[in-house]
Parts: sequence; C-alpha cells; structure tokens
Amino acid sequence: MTAQLACMTDDVPVAGTLRVELEGEAGPVEVAVVRDEAGEWHAISDVCSHGAVSLSEGEVEDCTVECWLHGSRFDLRSGKPLSPPAIRPVPVYPVTVDGERVLVDVDAPL
Ligand code: FES
Repeated sequence: MTAQLACMTDDVPVAGTLRVELEGEAGPVEVAVVRDEAGEWHAISDVCSHGAVSLSEGEVEDCTVECWLHGSRFDLRSGKPLSPPAIRPVPVYPVTVDGERVLVDVDAPL
C-alpha cells in the first residue's frame, strides 16, 4: 500500500497531536500524527509500547511525545523511549506533506 491521507495540515497545531486510524495491509493501524515544537511532521504508533494507552493524548516537547500514563518520553524520529518504564520502541511511519494534505504510509515503517 502507499501513503494515504491522514489529515489536513490545519488539523494539527505546532506541538500538537491527532489520533487517526489508517488501513494497513494487515488491518487497521492507530497512528499519532504529531507536529513537534519546530513544526516538523511525524507519525508514530498511537499505542504506547508499555501499556495500551494513546500517545496522542500526551504532551509534545521538542521532538518527543510523553506518554500520559507513566511518563515515558518517545523520540518522534526513532520511536525509541528516552525514559522508563517503556523499554521497547514504537513504530514510526513516513510522512509526506503535499500542499495541505498530510500523507502517512503505515505499511513502510522507518
Ligand atoms: S503506558 Fe505508556 S509508559 Fe506506561
């Protein structure tokens, strides 16, 4: 599958997040579309690798998002946790911005 429309640029403010559900080859994929504090776009799995909670409900700081439940902070570029208790990374997906359209390919994790 190729990149698909996740949202429009106006849907996500700087340092903001949006939870979307996209259709992957293996079924639905929950994605957090995030703009970091520099305005760069990212797409990571919306499901924290420590517990089944939504990362899009966490706070964005620099190029990270914090899981609201136990406070692990995930790097938006790599998906790696930078602080415990999470120890496993979350998938990161390629994002393309085409005009006002934000496209994500959930079948080609980085
Ligand atoms: S559920 Fe996210 S750090 Fe525990």
